[in-house]
Amino acid sequence: MNPQQILKEKRALAQLGGGQKRIDSQHAKGKLTARERVEILLDANSFEEIGMFVEHRCKDFGMEKDIILGDGVITGYGTIDGRLVYVFSQDFTVFGGSLSETHAEKICKIMDLAMQNGAPVIGLNDSGGARIQEGVQSLGGYADIFYRNTRASGVIPQISAILGPCAGGAVYSPAITDFIFMVEKTSYMFVTGPNVVKTVTHEDITSEALGGAETHASISGVTHFKTANEVECLQSIRRLMQYIPSNCEDEAPVYDYEAQDELRIKLDNIIPANANQPYDMKEVISEIIDTDSFMEVHKDWAENIICGFAKLGGRSVGIVANQPSSLAGVLDINSSRKAGRFVRFCDAFNIPLLTLVDVPGFLPGKDQEWQGIITNGAKLLYAFSEATVPKITVITRKAYGGAYDVMNSKHIGADMNFAWPSAEIAVMGAKGAAEIIFKNEIAASEDKDATWKQKEMEYTETFANPYKAAARGFIDEVIMPQETRKKLIKAFDMLKNKVVALPKKKHDNIPL
Ligand code: HXC
Repeated sequence: MNPQQILKEKRALAQLGGGQKRIDSQHAKGKLTARERVEILLDANSFEEIGMFVEHRCKDFGMEKDIILGDGVITGYGTIDGRLVYVFSQDFTVFGGSLSETHAEKICKIMDLAMQNGAPVIGLNDSGGARIQEGVQSLGGYADIFYRNTRASGVIPQISAILGPCAGGAVYSPAITDFIFMVEKTSYMFVTGPNVVKTVTHEDITSEALGGAETHASISGVTHFKTANEVECLQSIRRLMQYIPSNCEDEAPVYDYEAQDELRIKLDNIIPANANQPYDMKEVISEIIDTDSFMEVHKDWAENIICGFAKLGGRSVGIVANQPSSLAGVLDINSSRKAGRFVRFCDAFNIPLLTLVDVPGFLPGKDQEWQGIITNGAKLLYAFSEATVPKITVITRKAYGGAYDVMNSKHIGADMNFAWPSAEIAVMGAKGAAEIIFKNEIAASEDKDATWKQKEMEYTETFANPYKAAARGFIDEVIMPQETRKKLIKAFDMLKNKVVALPKKKHDNIPL
C-alpha cells in the first residue's frame, strides 16, 4: 500500500474511535461523540488535532492486542470566535473514555502548550475513570493533570464540561478548574458511586440524585452551570468565552459601545416603600448592564447572592449582588463561598467588579455557626480585600453590620462607592438597635410599645440614610437610581488603568 494510503487509512481508523456500534450506543444515550462535541464547541473547521495516533503501552490482561488509535481522548487546539483555545475531549467509545498513562500524557501536552501560549483549556469529560487494566500509571496520570491544573490556576482560564460519568478521584481535575458545566440527565460526578454508598451507609440512591446536574447545581454548588443538553452546554461555553480573557495578562473581549442617553428611569421605582419588602435585584442588574448581557454563574445555588458576568459599556464586569428576594439577601456560608470564589476569578483575570448591596447582615443560628460561618464568611471578606481590579459598589438599600464592611466597602479597597437615596448604612436594623440602646428607657416607660416605636423611628431618622457615610467620604456620591448606569460606565472607564502594588509574599493564606 502506498504511504499516503496508509496515512488515510490510519486517520479513518482513528476517527472511528471504539467503532460504529459503540458510537450508536453513545447516541442512543442522548450523548454526542467526542469529535461531534469538538465540532460544536469550536469555530467551523478550526480544530487541529494533536496525537491522533497515540497508543497505550499496557501489556496486561491482553491489552497489547487491543489498541485503539488516540487512546480514548481527542486533543488539540482551535478557536472560539477567532480566539485560540486548547481542548481535550474524552471518547467514551474507547475503553469507556478511561484514563491510561498515555491518555493522560496527551491531556498534559495540550495543558503545557496552553500555559506556554497563554490560552484557555477546555476539558470535555466523559470517562469511566482510571483505566482498570493499568495500575499506578493511570493514577500517576491523573496526578500529573491535577498538578498542571493547579499550576495553571489563575494563569489561564480552565473550563470543564461533564458530559457523562466523572467518578472517583477523576472529579478533582474539574474541581480545581474555574468553571464546571453539567448536562441534565446524562452527566454525573461523585467521589463514590451509589454501590459504595449502599455498602457503607446503607442508603439507596440513584446516580442522578447523588451527583447529577440538578444536585450539583442546586445543592452542592459543585457545578457552576447546568444545561438541558450537550449542544446547549457547548454553546454556553462559547458564550462564557465572550466575557473572559485568554490569560491573566490579557483583557476580556471589548465590544463596540457608543455613549447614549444612559439614564434608566425604571430604577427610580424599584425600591419598595416598605424597607422590609423584597424586590428582585436581577431587575436592577438588567437595567444597569448592556442589553441581555448577563450570564449568571451558580444560578440555582445560594440564590441569596447573585454572581455573574455582564457587559457594561461594551466591557466585561463581574457582578456580585445581594438578592433581597431570597432569604432577604442575607449572607450565609454558601453565599460567601460562592461569591468569594467568583471575586477571585474576576481578580485573577482582570475583570472589574461591580457590587450591588442590599444586605441585612449575616444569617444567625446554630447551624451556620457550627458549620463555620466565621471561616466561610471570611472568604468573601478576604476575596474582596485582596482584589486589585477596579472595584465599584452601589448600595441600593440595607448595608448593615459586618456585611456592610464585607460587601466591597471603601474600607477594604473599593475604588468608588455610590449609594442610592434609599440606602441605610448602620450597625444593625432600627428595631433591634432601639431595643438594645434604649432598653432602660423602654422598660421604664408606661407604654413600652409606643416608646420602642418612637426610639426605632429616631434611630431610623439618624442612620437609615446614606448621608452619614457620605459625610465621612465612605460613600463617594449619593446618586439617583436612574443615573446608576451612566455613573458606572464613566467610573469604570476612569479606573481602567488602575495599578496596585502589593506587599512581597510567597502566596496568601485565604481562610479555606
Ligand atoms: C477500563 C472501562 C472502564 C475503566 C468502563 N470501561 N470503565 N475500561 N477502565 N475504568 C469500559 C467497559 O469495559 C466497556 O467496554 C466500556 O468501557 C463501556 O462501559 P460500560 O460499563 O458498558 O458502560 P456503562 O454501562 O455506560 O457504564 C459506565 C460506567 C461503568 C458507569 C462508567 O463502565 C463503570 O462503572 N466503570 C468503572 C468505573 C470505575 O470504577 N472506575 C475506576 C474509578 S477509580 P466494552 O469493551 O464492553 O465497550 C478512579 C481513580 C482515579 O477513577 C484516581 C485519581 C486520583
